[in-house]
Amino acid sequence: MLRRLHKEQPSHFAFTPANQEWAEGQISKYPEGRQASAIIPLLWRAQEQEGWLSRPAIEHVAGMLGMAYIRALEVATFYFMFQLQPVGSVANIQICGTTSCMICGAEDLVAVCKEMISPLPHTLSADGKFSWEEVECLGACSNAPMAQIGKDYYEDLTPDTLRDLITRFSKGEVPLPGPQNGRYASEPLSGLTSLKDHEKGRMDHNGSVQLAVDLGDTVKRIDGTEVPILTPWLGKPADPSKGGPKQAEPKPGKGVPADETGITVQEAPAKSSAKPVDQAVSTAETTHVSSDADRPAGLKSARGGKPDDLKLIKGVGPKLEELCNSLGFYHFDQIANWTGAEVAWVDENLEGFKGRVTRDDWVAQARVLAKGGVV
Ligand code: FES
Repeated sequence: MLRRLHKEQPSHFAFTPANQEWAEGQISKYPEGRQASAIIPLLWRAQEQEGWLSRPAIEHVAGMLGMAYIRALEVATFYFMFQLQPVGSVANIQICGTTSCMICGAEDLVAVCKEMISPLPHTLSADGKFSWEEVECLGACSNAPMAQIGKDYYEDLTPDTLRDLITRFSKGEVPLPGPQNGRYASEPLSGLTSLKDHEKGRMDHNGSVQLAVDLGDTVKRIDGTEVPILTPWLGKPADPSKGGPKQAEPKPGKGVPADETGITVQEAPAKSSAKPVDQAVSTAETTHVSSDADRPAGLKSARGGKPDDLKLIKGVGPKLEELCNSLGFYHFDQIANWTGAEVAWVDENLEGFKGRVTRDDWVAQARVLAKGGVV
């Protein structure tokens, strides 16, 4: 399924002060050079704050983590948990359409969504309360067909039970998640056939349903007095002067240009201009985005005849190390000081390994290694 940024985007994004503090706390959990590991919780918090993930939100998070925009966009577009367009003010209903659910009637559930919400996925219902989409396996195949609604799983669905659920959600109710056909968990519908002792003293609901009930962190409710805000940036624009932190001017994390879709601008693949430092060729031979003016300074040989072991950079093996050496890169401190444009140049000129510098964040790793650290 194609997952793209929404065609209408807010002009900016900023975390609320509380979320900003929370986000900084998350980032501080990771060692120097590994801040990008906080990408999923930060994107998730941005989505929880706004209801969906806008391009400014993705770029803001990328900026906080020192990542290229494209890398954050890759994460946001990969996982179905991230909504790239406004969703219903009450719930976005995610119907699993993978094998088990499809065999057991997912298409009938989709038909209910089309009838009650919108003929098209990713489109708001007339009252703005719901949206729907088909997603891949959500890991509850033994309770197929099923849907994730809000943060909860509703399982063993039929068209009628789904219709009833949507009706109840629209009235402000939160029906009990879990199996909707009377099963406790995923045992046979007629009851347990073994391990019957386990029925004694068990909780009212199975583990995940009990947790959902205890947390009560489910679909968004509307109290009847409040007009649902589907796009906070349209209805109630966040005002950095009244609480929200000022957002830094967005820029690609590594100086890599991004077009309107957030995809790195790159022309048709061209012959690499990678050459040893003393044989550099003119850019006239190639059509690369980066010019040789962006080529990082190289050395003819390692300082003191002792090159650093570049294989200590995760993602660099003997061949890549050899290639780096052939380009005049022997030391961690050389790589640690590459600018965004230089990273782009090297990424383009690593014959057979294009894009590895950004993918494995060599610069961050090299900064740690240059100081004698370990990555
Ligand atoms: S196939 Fe639907 S949950 Fe796995």
